[in-house]
Amino acid sequence: MRQDNTFTLTDNRTGKKYEYAIKEGSRGPAAVDMRTFFKDTGMFSYDPGYTSTASCSSSITFIDGEKGELRYRGIPIETLATEHNYLDTCYLLLNETLPTDNERLQFDLELRHRAFLHEGLRNLFNAFPDNAHPMATLSAAVTALASFYDEHLDICDEAEYTEMASRIIAKIPTIAAFAYRHSLGIPFIQPDIDLSFTKNFLTMMRAYPGGKMHLGPLGHEDIKEVEVRALDTIFTLHADHEQNASTTVVRGVASTGAHPYVAIASGISALWGRAHGGANESVIAQLESIGSVENVEKFIARAKDPNDDFRLMGFGHRVYKNFDPRAKILKKLQDELKVTLGLNSELMEIAAKIEETALNDDYFISRKLYPNVDFYTGIILTALKIPKNMFTPIFVIGRTVGWITQWIEFKKDPESKIARPRQLYTGK
Ligand code: ACO
Repeated sequence: MRQDNTFTLTDNRTGKKYEYAIKEGSRGPAAVDMRTFFKDTGMFSYDPGYTSTASCSSSITFIDGEKGELRYRGIPIETLATEHNYLDTCYLLLNETLPTDNERLQFDLELRHRAFLHEGLRNLFNAFPDNAHPMATLSAAVTALASFYDEHLDICDEAEYTEMASRIIAKIPTIAAFAYRHSLGIPFIQPDIDLSFTKNFLTMMRAYPGGKMHLGPLGHEDIKEVEVRALDTIFTLHADHEQNASTTVVRGVASTGAHPYVAIASGISALWGRAHGGANESVIAQLESIGSVENVEKFIARAKDPNDDFRLMGFGHRVYKNFDPRAKILKKLQDELKVTLGLNSELMEIAAKIEETALNDDYFISRKLYPNVDFYTGIILTALKIPKNMFTPIFVIGRTVGWITQWIEFKKDPESKIARPRQLYTGK
């Protein structure tokens, strides 16, 4: 008798039927358990880009791409972005619950203490040419970190893996700021234990060594609270995003048994591409090349031309077929910053014109192409005086907690296996 929770496939060449169990998650689409498909049929499933493949089961992040919904550990992203901060979000991802006041304090203190780099690691930065892209330096420095903490991690020992996780979350901003300062040839600023996670990062980016480092030339606070809050929100929105390209790479490297920091370094490399996290840098570069509001129509026409490989950067998403909920929050933030920081740049006008034109154009409507998270981050980061080449490193800072949480989940999952897909051979 046919079971209801199964899926039957028929090979029409032979009429043979194959039955597979349907696995139900707690929300979202169910999955057909195809693990024995090759053994049963001698055939592979063919799915380049994994558009129909659930590579694992996970309880960290939920996305409903049709509705435009995103939740970490069941909590809506809107709640985290407006009522909590990045450290709460990190704690939530790692521990499955939001922290109590005391837990928040302990976690914050731990991250402040772990933000410093081994002096030996500082030497690595000198090996890079002046003007090296900070993403190259960042990825290399995180790989190097594995040699400073060459532990054989016991995944059953909670203290061991939480220490490994907090260490990388705490050090990433320092490495990113050092990579940036090296690219300018200016002295490194050490972390300041008195500053919060996000303010510390902005200080390491902007300050001059010595004296009251975060004061501007006139003695005014150079770093405004509104800027710290905006950047903290960006970190929160980037903290995790289920099985995206870089997270899939992190899990893939984890599956080979490599050191967790090497897996994170691989995730950093994957994120750098402009189809993924590198899009935030490309968005601003594209707005600059468009140059003025009058040119927008011309570039939109290029994006729609099937014979032109030009794409509108910051538009479209593999999963969201509706407004990306993170983009909605960032659009609001951008409008607020416009007022509080008195911003009104030509780039903002071009971006607003693109958004308006694309959202009313049938090409974008029919393909469900909406502005994604990267469309607005570039504009906001520019408003925070952050240079273009640091946009993707800032994405890295936010995403590190997601990668390491996914790494831990992978290691604890008894169903995890080495990532080893097969192919449809078409050669000689
Ligand atoms: N501009 C113009 N057309 C686009 C765009 C775009 N940005 N994105 C997709 N399309 C079109 C494609 O040409 C295709 O059209 P067709 O059906 O006529 O051939 C259709 O929309 C579907 O596109 P795919 O590439 O098949 O969609 P996929 O899910 O594979 O790609 C991706 C998603 C990579 C994000 C894509 O939309 C893109 O390249 N966007 C621009 C880069 C970008 O902003 N990346 C950041 C993503 S968010 C993140 O990683 C944090």
